[in-house]
Amino acid sequence: VSLPGSYEMFHYDARMTQLIFDYCRRRLSLDPVPLDSSGDREQLDAVLAGLLGPKGTDPETVLRIFADHLAPAVISCDSPRFLSFIPAAPTKASLLFDMVVSCSSLSGISWLEAAGAVAAENQTIALLAHLAGMPEGAGGVFVSGGSAANLSALAVARDTSRRRFPENASRRLVVAVSEQAHSSLHNALGLLDMEALVVPTKEGRLTGGTLRDSLAAHRSASQVVAIAATAGTTNAGIVDDLAGIAEVAKEKGLWFHVDGAYGAAALFSQRARHLFQGIEHADSFVIDPHKWLFAPFDCAALVYRDPSLARLVHSQHASYLEPVHAGDEWNPSDYAFHLTRRARGLALWFSLAVHGTNAYSAAVETVLETAKSTAQRISSSEHLELVREPGLSIVLFRRKGWDREDYYRWSEKLLSDQIGFVTPTVWRGETVARFAFLHPGTTMEIVDEILATMT
Ligand SMILES: Cc1ncc(COP(=O)(O)O)c(C=O)c1O
Repeated sequence: VSLPGSYEMFHYDARMTQLIFDYCRRRLSLDPVPLDSSGDREQLDAVLAGLLGPKGTDPETVLRIFADHLAPAVISCDSPRFLSFIPAAPTKASLLFDMVVSCSSLSGISWLEAAGAVAAENQTIALLAHLAGMPEGAGGVFVSGGSAANLSALAVARDTSRRRFPENASRRLVVAVSEQAHSSLHNALGLLDMEALVVPTKEGRLTGGTLRDSLAAHRSASQVVAIAATAGTTNAGIVDDLAGIAEVAKEKGLWFHVDGAYGAAALFSQRARHLFQGIEHADSFVIDPHKWLFAPFDCAALVYRDPSLARLVHSQHASYLEPVHAGDEWNPSDYAFHLTRRARGLALWFSLAVHGTNAYSAAVETVLETAKSTAQRISSSEHLELVREPGLSIVLFRRKGWDREDYYRWSEKLLSDQIGFVTPTVWRGETVARFAFLHPGTTMEIVDEILATMT
């Protein structure tokens, strides 16, 4: 007899295990996954009605509700036809190993509890730090996303400046960002009670020169303490002038943060590597493996040049946690705003170990090539026009003669026909079409099929 709350639900259940593994096996074997579409609220409410109550429901029934009604009401980010926002393309190895992490109940708080997991996560962070040219001693942690990483890094920037310059304790502190900076940086500044100094850009790219001019013109009682540059803007894939910005940061004693949540994965490309010149001077930087490093959600890498500064800000102290800090071992919880955390870096670690970094470089190169070929297709079309040369893997283009409503109507029909998920964006006040490539399985045939719908 199955009694809710009894110990029975902690027992191994062979039938439920089989059901779930069969589902996962089927989902993993879909090639490609169906694009699917967003759902209807009333239908979803009807399907879910009464499901959570005092008594349980047979797992087969619940799983069928998920498979037949809920999963198809989720647009598949890992479809090669998903070209909106920032897509996803997790490797099968990383997805499988994420199941291992879940089934093993790995808590990645501390070395004391999880040395094996922490060692492998740190090996992965070290690889990313090395790729960016950071010095020995750099280190960090995997957090839930670029937003969490930006927030945690800017908290360290703020508190480090207050520690170094006691007069900053009573001042309003400011972080310089480009007008193209990701929205999460603005949210982080609000949470940290800091302000943004929005620096104008040349064609969307922040340079050392414009930063210097803006700093010189900044005549307020507030104090600029950091610069948050972007290595791959979300809207257009633009990498800021990191080398020039690094120089200004050094000259003015600013914390140099690089938000490479989307774009810094292109460090894996020999061809794109030169764009990131200067990232090696960062005090902190972010790469999201759940974006272009083919890891499952949720996984963002936050790396500090001097992790001891982050520890001063983020370590949590409580009597019950004393054993965690008894030694001088590495505790991931000390490097961001969190305590309990999934060992979310392990899925990337496993996939990197299994496939090797060359496979990652090749996958990133393929995607860059798709963006380039798409730009050529658009340039040679009569009714389409490139808005700008692709930035990394993002292509902005216009359909001559279309207005905002035309783009939205087209985007909706494209999804309902299951040809693609491509949402419009705005570039310099104009609504335009945007392809965000990330899936190595997005072929030129798919691109041509989508472009053909714009004639
Ligand atoms: C440049 C950049 N920074 C930060 C973020 C936020 O990352 P997340 O959605 O993982 O919080 C994004 C998301 O697309 C991004 O492109």
